[in-house]
Amino acid sequence: MGTALHILHLEDNPDDQELVRLTLVKEGMSCELACVEAHDDFLAALKQGEWDIILADYTLPSYNGLSALTLARELRPEVPFIFVSGTIGEDAAIACLKAGATDYVLKHHLARLAHAVRRALREAEERKERKLADEDRTRLEEQLRQAHKMEAIGRLAGGIAHDFNNLLTVINGYSELVLNSLGANLHARKNVEQIKKAGRRAATLTRQLLAFSRRQVLQLKVLDLNAVVTNFEAMLQPLIGEDILLEAVLQPGLGLVKVDPGQIEQIILNLTVNARDAMPEGGKLTIETANVELDEAYARRHVSVRPGPYVMLAISDTGCGMDAETQANIFEPFFTTKEHGKGTGLGLATVYGIVKQSGGNIWVYSEPGKGTTFKIYLPRVEGVAEGSEPAHPRSSILRGSETILLVEDEDMVRSLAREILEAHGYAVSEARDSTEALRVCHTHSGSIHLLVTDVVMPGMSGRELAARLGTIHPETKVLYMSGYTDDAVVRHGVLNAGLAFLQKPFTANAFLCKVREVLDSTSSSPVYGRMTASSE
Ligand SMILES: Nc1ncnc2c1ncn2[C@@H]1O[C@H](COP(=O)(O)OP(=O)(O)OP(=O)(O)O)[C@@H](O)[C@H]1O
Ligand SMILES: [Mg+2]
Repeated sequence: MGTALHILHLEDNPDDQELVRLTLVKEGMSCELACVEAHDDFLAALKQGEWDIILADYTLPSYNGLSALTLARELRPEVPFIFVSGTIGEDAAIACLKAGATDYVLKHHLARLAHAVRRALREAEERKERKLADEDRTRLEEQLRQAHKMEAIGRLAGGIAHDFNNLLTVINGYSELVLNSLGANLHARKNVEQIKKAGRRAATLTRQLLAFSRRQVLQLKVLDLNAVVTNFEAMLQPLIGEDILLEAVLQPGLGLVKVDPGQIEQIILNLTVNARDAMPEGGKLTIETANVELDEAYARRHVSVRPGPYVMLAISDTGCGMDAETQANIFEPFFTTKEHGKGTGLGLATVYGIVKQSGGNIWVYSEPGKGTTFKIYLPRVEGVAEGSEPAHPRSSILRGSETILLVEDEDMVRSLAREILEAHGYAVSEARDSTEALRVCHTHSGSIHLLVTDVVMPGMSGRELAARLGTIHPETKVLYMSGYTDDAVVRHGVLNAGLAFLQKPFTANAFLCKVREVLDSTSSSPVYGRMTASSE
């Protein structure tokens, strides 16, 4: 046996104490015995010490073995308890075993003691392992149930978001067009402004639902999370106020991750805002990064974790914390404990969706009154870090005269896009699907400067169309739009960073900016160059 056994020995006779010790030592067991003989000392030892095994005499001057056994079972049910007694009779011995004693050894048969101790320890170890395995299984089952529940809600949310995206593109787009044509009619303008405002709010909700359902299009970049956090810190400080201390503990030499920069900022923002709300009296917010290896053993205990190298991003607060019941629901969309109007309950749902869609995992550790830690694990990748700035529209010019081929299967969205483009000087050819688009290309003699296409369409996808079109009109640049990703081309909702993309629902302004931006990019630019082969 490696380390010494810690034995609590309830025995009043010093000779017997020594005899027991010698017997065990002679059997090659290294042990440390703490001897007590009265109730109070026994109780104190039970409470304070870490014991491998308890040995107890049956009759003592001021205490008795059976009471000691009851006490030990109550306070330390996992520690084996063996009677070592000279007086125990058969009936008493049976009563002891019934009361939970592990074994009994007679003082004039001490030769049996080492064997009894070893067996008791072995059985205790087995019980402990079984208990751990049971706990692991229960935890896994719970995680699995939770994951299935999130899948189901995600599908529902994704379906709603998909349809709403197209509807909102139309509602918001036409309100903008109406607004532009209204001139000075103040009353009508005010009314349409209200529609636009509600439309914008609905678009935000839809975007969050889409993020939760892991169906938004991510624009991935290889990033150093330390750089992201460092750049973002200045934004966070005013948000959390002066009573909260912000500390970043960033591991030097941090591995890289492949994520959407805008989305990773969204994650940090949502978690920070939650942490702030949990610390109304002030406190400390810690953002931590670290390289971690998640091994097989970890993966076995955590549903849907693949072993391997990860980068951890942890955000901790010293706030109000959460009870287990709350923790079980926080990632569900619309779960909030905040009063009406204060929270929508979409913050963590969004975080959850983004993390999962990026191939990562998120866990929460919290205790009421103590604080909360969210840990996010993202797969580590090889490569060279790119700039962490999310792509922002660079153009403020909205007009142009180029020829644009517009491909979109939703009639209302297509009509809207056409109307917006034509109102700003562009010549527009339209098609409702890829086949029709290719027909237009073949018959069109002049240049087609830009293809604006939906990503997901019945029949040939937007990316396939772009590739085909490239062979007929090599000058054509491409702008993708989508409200939803379920297409093989953007499997996992991930587009190469090199592609120009517009998320539905979009405003007329965002649409026009993006069109100009792509048209004005140099054709050799790696960012807006024509289609390259997909990495998927
Ligand atoms: N750091 C935290 N400490 C304590 N409770 C938290 C923390 N983060 C989240 N919660 C709990 O989880 C709930 C859900 O959080 P979530 O961010 O999804 O929604 P919200 O903050 O209520 O609203 P929203 O983010 O949409 O404005 C919160 O209402 C709160 O009860
Ligand atoms: Mg929140």
